[in-house]
Amino acid sequence: GKVVVLYGGNSAEKEISLRSGKAVYNALLNVGIDAVLIDPEAEGLAAIQASNCDRVWNALHGRGGEDGVIQAHLQLLGLPYTGSGVMASAIAMDKLRTKLIWQAMSYPVAKHRMLNTGVLTIEQAEDVLADMNDCVMVKPIREGSSVGMAKADNAKALVEAVENAKQYDREVMLEQWIDGEEYTVSILNGKALPSIRVKTPNTFYDFQAKYQSQSTEYVCPSGLNDEDEAELAELSQAAFYALGCEGWGRVDLMRERSTGNWLLLEVNTVPGMTETSLVPKAAKQSGMSFDELVVAVLETSFV
Ligand code: DAL
Ligand code: MG
Repeated sequence: GKVVVLYGGNSAEKEISLRSGKAVYNALLNVGIDAVLIDPEAEGLAAIQASNCDRVWNALHGRGGEDGVIQAHLQLLGLPYTGSGVMASAIAMDKLRTKLIWQAMSYPVAKHRMLNTGVLTIEQAEDVLADMNDCVMVKPIREGSSVGMAKADNAKALVEAVENAKQYDREVMLEQWIDGEEYTVSILNGKALPSIRVKTPNTFYDFQAKYQSQSTEYVCPSGLNDEDEAELAELSQAAFYALGCEGWGRVDLMRERSTGNWLLLEVNTVPGMTETSLVPKAAKQSGMSFDELVVAVLETSFV
């Protein structure tokens, strides 16, 4: 039967989703699967039902498409869709609630706190910095692709970074800056694919480094020894299941330089599928082409 590829949407990651969706759509056509691209923002939700499809490949990133909202709609239509269900999608979109669950399970996360109301004063910013080793990462709680994120190592910069992040979400999270290396583990059908280490000359793996830079390095295999790779895979799978995630996704982590400890950052339940995206690189390392990956993800779709 026909597969609808959902892409676009109205989140801050809309442009990325348009790229992911087109790549997925082309892969489905390549392997002879009847597919149609639908942007629910441009064409309306009714276009999904009108397409007479029997399955949905969801390539929507960010709020509205990755956070349980579209998943609930598809569920009510009785249409199987790729990726996690309503609850896990909603939790994974929310970096703070994700962390609270992991903390309750004694999984390693960086020290953090939440800001939900008012403005941060310079005095409060100074207190936060004193409590967090004088360097903080500011994150809108429900965003992707590093949208709205900034590093702050002084009170003025922190106040500004919070103001900026608040343009993207009413809730903002402050995370103690992690000095370390960035890794990511793709999960497909319950299993971890080879990890990737991301190296960027930027301050962190920001939007520019993700999608516009020629100087971001993706190291896969990541160079870990077998024991560390196995430990990382186990932690990533456990973190994925702790949130109730299903099908496929990508767990982002840091390895702290001073201790060598892993710190979990977040789970992406609709990871990017663009030319520079990470899951396709991990799949390739495990011998799977982009087209094969797209089909494997489709096969995990459920109602
Ligand atoms: N949020 C982007 C799409 C990613 O995780 O790849
Ligand atoms: Mg993300």
